[in-house]
Amino acid sequence: MSDDTGHMDGLAVIECERCPELCESRSRIVNGTGPDDADLLFVGEAPGEHEDKGGEPFVGRSGSVLDDALGEHGLKREAVRITNCVRCRPPENRDPHKGELDNCREYLEREINGVDPELVITLGKVPTEHLLERDAAVTKEAGTIEDTRLDGTAHRVLICVHPAAATAAAVAGVAESDGSGQSRLDGF
Ligand code: URA
Repeated sequence: MSDDTGHMDGLAVIECERCPELCESRSRIVNGTGPDDADLLFVGEAPGEHEDKGGEPFVGRSGSVLDDALGEHGLKREAVRITNCVRCRPPENRDPHKGELDNCREYLEREINGVDPELVITLGKVPTEHLLERDAAVTKEAGTIEDTRLDGTAHRVLICVHPAAATAAAVAGVAESDGSGQSRLDGF
């Protein structure tokens, strides 16, 4: 995909000038990591300071919580896809603005449709509301699965709390709310 403001190579955004403020605040574009045919695709909000430096999503404290949560299910980070709604660090780590989410949505949709995972897992309020296009009370709804369509393609979305707001056990056990005691991540 290429236009005058953004250019993708496969699932990666190579250059983009759509958000003037984020172009100023970023050191680099932080693309998703992990297999391009992963069964699980985690979606966070936006890169923070560590991700902006390291060039990879979830490598700071939230990343350690996510790694621990994956480990509780015998999963390694390398086995799953991890990305963000917005690929450039917002100034002072503020939440991305609606316009920024909209500007980056095409990249996210292309990534999710390209990977076509069994489950898209939204980490926190921003990605949950962005992908489901509705308000969400994430702590109440965590563990529930909802169908959505992205650019016409159907996906299953598992709502999860953001690792920054949770312990690894809470993230890993997100789907035990069906009473079976079994997490929905088991089996991947
Ligand atoms: N929080 C996010 O939402 N994404 C990251 O990549 C890091 C922290």
